[in-house]
Amino acid sequence: MSDPRTVLLREHHAPAHVLVTGASRGIGLALVRALLTNPQVAQLTAVARHATRSEALGDLALADARLQCLDVDVTDETALAALAGRLRAHHPSLQLVIHAAGMLHGDGIGPEKSVTQVRRATLEQVFALNAFAPILLARALLPLLEGPCVFASLSARVGSIGDNRLGGWYAYRASKAAQNQLMKTFAIELARRNRRGCCLLLHPGTVDTGLSAPFQANVPAARLFAPERAAAQLLHIIAQATPQDSGRFIAWDGTDIPW
Ligand SMILES: NC(=O)c1ccc[n+]([C@@H]2O[C@H](COP(=O)([O-])OP(=O)(O)OC[C@H]3O[C@@H](n4cnc5c(N)ncnc54)[C@H](OP(=O)(O)O)[C@@H]3O)[C@@H](O)[C@H]2O)c1
Repeated sequence: MSDPRTVLLREHHAPAHVLVTGASRGIGLALVRALLTNPQVAQLTAVARHATRSEALGDLALADARLQCLDVDVTDETALAALAGRLRAHHPSLQLVIHAAGMLHGDGIGPEKSVTQVRRATLEQVFALNAFAPILLARALLPLLEGPCVFASLSARVGSIGDNRLGGWYAYRASKAAQNQLMKTFAIELARRNRRGCCLLLHPGTVDTGLSAPFQANVPAARLFAPERAAAQLLHIIAQATPQDSGRFIAWDGTDIPW
């Protein structure tokens, strides 16, 4: 595995500007920690609704001036436009975007076991974050995706229609499938606009975070990754990626997942 302290991107060896969403906890926070060990990272913008209230991010920012934390709700198009404007004021381009914001459960929302539990309000809320936010983020950031760059969006294996054998989890599965189609379509457009760009959909494995916490009982210990391990595995895939990989839906171990 490539060392996240040395290799950031295969196609870009100069100082890099990086954006991570979902950065206040879980996999996003572990990605921020790992990225800050890499001297090629010139500036890292960490985004979440409560980024500036995250103690962990605050400690990292105190110790490392390359990190700036911004409170942004990625389901809010106006907030995304403001984020893009703010980034553009400081940098002409971004070399790496990792979209790690996502949800499986929340206030009054849990994955459905049966169609009788499907609710329109839940579908709308889960789709807004898991499916609409990544493509709206891509739209907002498009002017910054110049030259060699990777836009990696965290998806989930359960979003695979071909691999759906267990059923259940209607909103989460469908929102990830929708994300996959939206981002695959974006990958095709990005290739036409910027032949050095790469858009990836990544499945991190089952990772020990608040998102998976209620559903870990049947996961063998060896298949439940610490966030630090998941981050290292994802950064390894990103570091290897070339524009020819754009549009792939890849698991943590580098294998392709069926759509
Ligand atoms: N954990 C797993 O086992 C697993 C497996 C497969 C795929 N994934 C995917 O990996 C990604 C990260 O999961 P995780 O386990 O790290 O989740 P997590 O621990 O629950 O963290 C989710 C992050 O998203 C942010 N967020 C939520 N709503 C947001 C919004 N509207 N705007 C901006 N940020 C928002 C949260 O911060 P705030 O609350 O401060 O906004 C938090 O930083 C998700 O897309 C998930 O579907 C995870």
